[in-house]
Amino acid sequence: MFTSDLLSNKRVLITGGGTGLGKAMARRFLQLGAAVHICGRREEVLEQTAAELSQVNLSQARLPGAGGSKKAKALIHAIPCDVRNRDAVEAMIDSIWQEAPLDILVNNAAGNFIARTEELSPRAWESVINIVLMGTLHCTMACGRRWLREKHSGTVLSISATYAPVGSAYVVPSAVSKAGVEALTRSLAVEWGNRGIRLNAIAPGPIPTQGAFSRVLPLPKLEPIARERIPLRRFGTTEELANLAAFLVSDGSSYINGEVIRMDGGEFLQGAGEFSNLGRALSDEDWESLKPRKKS
Ligand code: HXC
Ligand code: NAP
Repeated sequence: MFTSDLLSNKRVLITGGGTGLGKAMARRFLQLGAAVHICGRREEVLEQTAAELSQVNLSQARLPGAGGSKKAKALIHAIPCDVRNRDAVEAMIDSIWQEAPLDILVNNAAGNFIARTEELSPRAWESVINIVLMGTLHCTMACGRRWLREKHSGTVLSISATYAPVGSAYVVPSAVSKAGVEALTRSLAVEWGNRGIRLNAIAPGPIPTQGAFSRVLPLPKLEPIARERIPLRRFGTTEELANLAAFLVSDGSSYINGEVIRMDGGEFLQGAGEFSNLGRALSDEDWESLKPRKKS
């Protein structure tokens, strides 16, 4: 889909890059020539992912400082960091910057679970808001301030969810946090745009990952219900998400700023259209019976 050097010379940080969508983006960005830092709380998960991704083939990608190697080993770096902790984020960004500035930040780390809102404890609210909203703020501010100070261009991509603009029952801490992430994206796209910083977001529909599906579709009966809501009748894939992300962080999309791109097989619009469920409710016979009778 892309030339193999699309992201060569780009330095990327992906929060939550040890698993799921973050790992898929890391793999794709490496294939396209980027140097990729992944962070998360669990060091062993990060190390395992870094070891796996170090074997990614970089067929024609340029490899600055990699000694002509055809593997991504020199380009993948794991840094344990809890994005809820502002000091830890600053220390991580400092350590990356000591080598060279980042060019791309991907705010992907998240926490979520389904629950009845009236039963949430204060700690339950905080457990999600502090990762999704505060973690995104900490990382965005840490990179943004450095980019502005050094007059270095940069781009931020945040992973949101389709329910951010409208809310959703049963995932309310996530909904309020993702809404904040989208507001941050649109606000800073305007405030920082004239200084070479772009911010965009992707709002994916359901994409099978262990982390997400074990928490938001935790019972087997929920999965077919979720699939049925999607006009394409299937879930998205991590590869589809990674391709869209690669485009949005690359210079190929340099005029896209402040946008939230939905990638959900049409699920959101299916739910919004007043008559969109008629395809399921009415049979061929029903449609025939509704045709105007020919006047004799
Ligand atoms: C009610 C719950 C709960 C649940 C935890 N809590 N799970 N309450 N229902 N299912 C409560 C706990 O009882 C506790 O409150 C508080 O939340 C903190 O719980 P901890 O387990 O101590 O928190 P922590 O270790 O910080 O873990 C954070 C987490 C966990 C969010 C709860 O799930 C996590 O680490 N998630 C990271 C990965 C993740 O969630 N990925 C999915 C992203 S999918 P008390 O008061 O008892 O102490 C996504 C979009 C999906 O975001 C959209 C699909 C279409
Ligand atoms: P995932 O595998 O659970 O990914 C979440 C990642 O965030 C994990 O690697 C986790 O690692 C990391 N993380 C959590 N808390 C952290 C913290 N405090 N500091 C640093 N890292 C932290 O789930 P996923 O499906 O790939 O989700 C990725 C993103 O896509 C999230 O933003 C999610 O909201 C969004 N999304 C997913 C779907 C879907 O269907 N998959 C749909 C819509 C949106 P540690 O636990 O080791 O910290």
